[in-house]
Amino acid sequence: MPVVKSACSANTEALCLQSPAKVNLYLGVTGVRTDGYHELVTVFERVALADELRFEPQDEGLACHCAHPQVPSDERNIAVRAARLVMERSGVSRGLRLTIDKRIPVAAGLGGGSSNAATVLLALNHWWALGLSRETLLAWGRELGADVPFFLADAVFAIGVNRGDVLVPVATRVTFWHVLVSPPIALSTAEVFRAWDALGSAAGRANMSQFAQLLAALVEGRNDEAQGLTWNQLLPAAERLAPAIRDVEEALAQAGAASVHLTGSGPTVVATVPAETDARRIAAHVAQAHPDWQVLVTHTAPSSEQ
Ligand code: C5P
Repeated sequence: MPVVKSACSANTEALCLQSPAKVNLYLGVTGVRTDGYHELVTVFERVALADELRFEPQDEGLACHCAHPQVPSDERNIAVRAARLVMERSGVSRGLRLTIDKRIPVAAGLGGGSSNAATVLLALNHWWALGLSRETLLAWGRELGADVPFFLADAVFAIGVNRGDVLVPVATRVTFWHVLVSPPIALSTAEVFRAWDALGSAAGRANMSQFAQLLAALVEGRNDEAQGLTWNQLLPAAERLAPAIRDVEEALAQAGAASVHLTGSGPTVVATVPAETDARRIAAHVAQAHPDWQVLVTHTAPSSEQ
């Protein structure tokens, strides 16, 4: 489990934690399950871009605050559901005030909500000294959402199988720079998977040989090769719901990005580049031409030992 390190300044009562985003370097759909979910093979990468979560005691009950207009503060927020789940299952009756400083684009394929939920599980286990095991936290994380377990794992890169919630860490020294471009559209993951189902045979098959090549390039530390092997099978489905994704891909290519791929169910398109200077140049180019798109530069998260 990741180590819980508070970043709050001068307030010993509060706990402040970074809640990182993820990028899917590869996402293949390998089957449809009887529970309505899809079988996936994916490669997750934790990145430096992060929300900040602040935990403070209050007399009673649970209060959540988030200034972002698209983030609800009630049970529709997966972080609130995570806190409620911990309180109910561990019988804790302490009050909690949770403040979410949103920096990760919302409903964008970057795992922000899932990460917030995982951070709440880790934080409350630590803060309230609940002694919950890794297995319990993973089981609760899986109940909350398929992407939550990745954020509970102490891995910067991991393969996700089944619903994407069974993880195998990937030991690698590669680091990437990324330009993340999110057009102003929120995509529901469930809707993108429904659109994928509707594509039928046009949805194609998971390209497992490319997955194997990507994995080998990561494990053997071949940055340049790995960056050219990213792929996402949900792209045609996401583009059907959000045609602007094609414009984003084109704008990134015009700005000089050679490796461009969708993350998660989109609509964020990721350019993976070798160096920070490339990322900043491409980001400036795209942001200037498309002021209504959210353009962010990030990189592989440092491992928790660093
Ligand atoms: O687990 P999570 O709540 O993040 O998933 C949102 C929706 O995305 C699910 O209800 C399901 O419709 C779809 N999904 C899927 N297969 C996956 C992950 C998500 O069909 N492996």
